[in-house]
Amino acid sequence: AYVVTDNCIRCKYMDCVEVCPVDCFYEGENMLVINPNECIDCGVCEPECPAEAIVPDTEPGLEKWVELNAKYSAEWPNITVKGDSPADADEWKGKPNKLDSEFS
Ligand code: SF4
Ligand code: F3S
Repeated sequence: AYVVTDNCIRCKYMDCVEVCPVDCFYEGENMLVINPNECIDCGVCEPECPAEAIVPDTEPGLEKWVELNAKYSAEWPNITVKGDSPADADEWKGKPNKLDSEFS
């Protein structure tokens, strides 16, 4: 499966939801996650994200994100249509370690 990672936090551009053929994105307040059981590994969302937040779970060092996507995709509501991004999304784009300020 593909996973949404730190770069999505507070950016939440949502271009990804428009292209996913199986609608497997789930929406939190400040980021989206992918349901690993529904993702078919098509890869079309990866280049669509302006924040480069989506990566295949086969990349090393992603344990935390694999766990987070699995956990929250079971709790958060499904999202299939792009909404309004946060007004300051571009200011957060590319900032490191956004998760630490978000879920701690
Ligand atoms: Fe959806 Fe394909 Fe991205 Fe998986 S890889 S989340 S199926 S667009
Ligand atoms: Fe997040 Fe990128 Fe989608 S910023 S909401 S993963 S387009």
